[in-house]
Amino acid sequence: MATLLTGSTGYLGSYLAAGLLREGEPVAVLVRARDRAEAERRLWRAWQLHLTPEDFFEHLRLRVEVFAGDLTEPDFGLSPDDRLRLARTTDAILHCAASLNRRSERACLNVNIRGTLALAKLAREIQDERGLRRFSHVSTVSVAGERSHEVVDEDSAVDWQRRDYDAYGRTKKFAEHLVGELLPDVSRLVFRPSIVMGDSRFAETTQFDMVRAFSFLASLPVLPLRPLDRIDIVPANWVADAIVTLHLRERTDHRVYHLSAGREAPTYRAITDTLSEALGTGRPAYVPGLEGPFRFAASVLGRLGPKPVRLGARLLDVFFPYLTYDTVFDSSRVVTELGRAPASFPKYAAPLLDWSRRQNFRYPHREWPEGADRPPAPSRPATLEDVAAAAKTTNGSNGSHSRSRAAHE
Ligand SMILES: NC(=O)c1ccc[n+]([C@@H]2O[C@H](COP(=O)([O-])OP(=O)(O)OC[C@H]3O[C@@H](n4cnc5c(N)ncnc54)[C@H](OP(=O)(O)O)[C@@H]3O)[C@@H](O)[C@H]2O)c1
Repeated sequence: MATLLTGSTGYLGSYLAAGLLREGEPVAVLVRARDRAEAERRLWRAWQLHLTPEDFFEHLRLRVEVFAGDLTEPDFGLSPDDRLRLARTTDAILHCAASLNRRSERACLNVNIRGTLALAKLAREIQDERGLRRFSHVSTVSVAGERSHEVVDEDSAVDWQRRDYDAYGRTKKFAEHLVGELLPDVSRLVFRPSIVMGDSRFAETTQFDMVRAFSFLASLPVLPLRPLDRIDIVPANWVADAIVTLHLRERTDHRVYHLSAGREAPTYRAITDTLSEALGTGRPAYVPGLEGPFRFAASVLGRLGPKPVRLGARLLDVFFPYLTYDTVFDSSRVVTELGRAPASFPKYAAPLLDWSRRQNFRYPHREWPEGADRPPAPSRPATLEDVAAAAKTTNGSNGSHSRSRAAHE
C-alpha cells in the first residue's frame, strides 16, 4: 500500500517525495496536468533537485503511481476507474499541497479548505474500508495568527480569538481544525513548519520567494528592523526529514509538531554579521523607527518600481509582518523525538544567497532527458500492491537514490 502525496511538484513536496522514495515507500502523486505524460514532465522539473535521471525513471517505473488531477475538482478530476484505484491502493496520505497566495482569499479557500476537506473524506473512506495507516497534514506556524515577542508552543498556537495575518494563515488554521474534527486521533499528524528556506547541505534551491526578499533586505545599508529580534527559519532538508520519519513511524509521542528553529532561532544581527563577513558587504545600520516609511516604500516600489527591485519589494510587502513579529515556535518536541535539530540559518545563508543571486533567482532546470520517454509499459507493475512488492525487493539493493552532495557543514 502506498502513501498518497499531494503537492509533490512544489518545493517542500519534492523533498517529501524524495524522502519517502529513499525509505522505500511506494508513492501515489496527484499532479495538476492534462495527462500522465505532462504530469511526469512536471515531476521531473520538481524532483531533479534530488534525483538523477536514472533514479527518477527507476522510481517512476517501480514505486510511483501518477494521477493527473486537481484537489479542487469533483473526485479530484479523476476518471471513475482512477478514483477507485486511488482509494484501493493507498492506505496513507501526506497532504502537502496548498495555495500560499496570501493575496488571494479565493485560491486559499479553494485549495486549503475545499481541497483538504476532499482529502479528509477520501481518508475516511480508506479508514472505513480497511483502516487508515496515517494522515499527515502539512500545516504552518501561521495558524498562530498575529503575535509579538513570543515563544509559542504547539498547544497554545491556535487561538480562535486572535487575528490572522492573511487569508493563507486563516485558511490553513481552519484546514487543521477540519482534519482534527474529521479524522481519527491515532492516524493523524499535523506538522507546522516555520519559514522554510534553502537546504543546509548545498546552495541550490528551486524556491526563491523568501530568498529574494532576504536578498533585497541584505542589500540595504539601513534596515527597518530591531537587531535583536529573532526570526524562525529552517532548512527544507530538515523539515522533510522530520515529516517523512514521523509519517512512517507506527507510533509517535505527539500529534502536532512545530518544525522550527524555536529558542535557537537567530537574531537579525547574527544573520547580517554572517552575511556581511561571507559576502564582503558592509554591515547595515538598524533603524527600527523606519518601519512605517519602509513598508510604504515597499508597497509603492512593489507596484511602480523599476523591474529589478519590483519583485523583491512586492515580496517584502507581503512577508513584512512575518519579519517583524519577533516570535519563534518551540520545537523541543520534534528535536527530542528525532534526536536532530535544524542547522542554524546563518550557517548556510551565505551560499544560498550567493548562488541564488548568481542564478538570477531561477533554478537552471535540466530539460526532459533526451531520448527518454515514459517508463516502458510491460515492466510497469499493474497495481500499487505490485509496486509495494517491487519496492520491497529492490529497496536496499540500490543504496541512496539521492544526488550526492558536498556538504557545507
Ligand atoms: N514554504 C514555506 O516556507 C512553508 C512554511 C510553512 C508551511 N508550509 C506548507 O508547506 C506546504 C508546501 O509549501 P511549498 O512552499 O512547497 O509550496 P509550493 O512550492 O507552492 O507547492 C504547493 C504545491 O501544492 C500544489 N497545489 C496547489 N493547488 C493545488 C490543487 N488545486 N490541486 C493539486 N495540487 C495543488 C502545487 O501544485 P502545482 O505545481 O500544480 O501548482 C504544488 O505542488 C504547504 O502546505 C504550506 O502551507 C510552507
